[in-house]
Amino acid sequence: MFPSLTPEQKKELSTIAQRIVETGKGVLAADESVGTMGKRLQKINVENTEEHRRQFRQLLLTSDPALSNSIGGVILFHETLYQKSDTGVLFPKIIKDAGIVVGIKVDKGTAALAGTDGETTTQGLDGLGERCAQYKKDGADFAKWRCVLKISDCCPSSLSIAENANVLARYASICQQNGLVPIVEPEILTDGDHNLQRCQYATEKVLSAVYKALSDHHVYLEGTLLKPNMVTAGQACSQKYTPQEVAMATVTALRRTVPAAVPGICFLSGGQSEEEASLNLNAINQCPLPRPWKLTFSYGRALQASTLATWQGKPGNTKAAQTTFSTRAKINGLASKGEYKPSGQTDQSATQSLFSASYVY
Ligand code: 13P
Repeated sequence: MFPSLTPEQKKELSTIAQRIVETGKGVLAADESVGTMGKRLQKINVENTEEHRRQFRQLLLTSDPALSNSIGGVILFHETLYQKSDTGVLFPKIIKDAGIVVGIKVDKGTAALAGTDGETTTQGLDGLGERCAQYKKDGADFAKWRCVLKISDCCPSSLSIAENANVLARYASICQQNGLVPIVEPEILTDGDHNLQRCQYATEKVLSAVYKALSDHHVYLEGTLLKPNMVTAGQACSQKYTPQEVAMATVTALRRTVPAAVPGICFLSGGQSEEEASLNLNAINQCPLPRPWKLTFSYGRALQASTLATWQGKPGNTKAAQTTFSTRAKINGLASKGEYKPSGQTDQSATQSLFSASYVY
């Protein structure tokens, strides 16, 4: 036995992880890269400048003094960690002062796995220890690394499952050595016409490989969070499933593969509409199967789409956009407890699909 972490390090990591997924709370994924943010801003005809990105992130972070009732952690992109509010306060300080944990995206995007049907691994391990140490000094307490898998006749291949599991485990180990809680994200895309059962099968294979690799790398599970896809049918599947069916397939897959030592599982939204993502999360938390972990959200698109649409880059719309955002955050907070009761007056923009093919974050 060569212990990888001291008892103090373990305590710190598990405390951070638990704070992020306290009852009724989830994560705001606001870590879009410059390119991805550009695509979002283009939809509302706003130029992709550093200042516009700063204004939008400021809008989110200052939306509601009670944001911490539903948001336990915010994931930032490198640029945002060093940006300031109009009044000159660094964003990480604003987040911490609100009682929310600061996170940072540390991967450097995907790279092709040659000889496969367009599958990928994720890059960014070189120098990761040094970057994590710096981010910890600069206020971050957790990190995110996204791996991407896809479903087709021959995917996910055993190569992509093994490679992505290993790189996630290596990343998780490095984060923990530097006091950052790793959010482990193996995202299976919804591209394709596969049914719910096919997605459940692939999700179980991917997650079991991830937990084998985390164990091989001596990762301390109590100091990690998982960010998986929900088990849903492919975006082009002709059969439609109810939130209860999605919930049963999702919780079944998680129960078969994710150790009870993991404190929380925070789902990505993956192109679901805002309302769909909330209804599915709510159903997951009403599922009759025993659930030993917190089941909550770490949404990007499904927390921000209608807020962006309300904002339109106009200062005069800031207040209204902030109200839109805090309403969505509250709804997801309720869904993370299985307590969301839709009013029947859902905003049109909240029901629009946010899917885009082969999504790059
Ligand atoms: P979506 O919720 O938009 O899928 O994004 C979450 C995320 O952080 C992907 O890495």
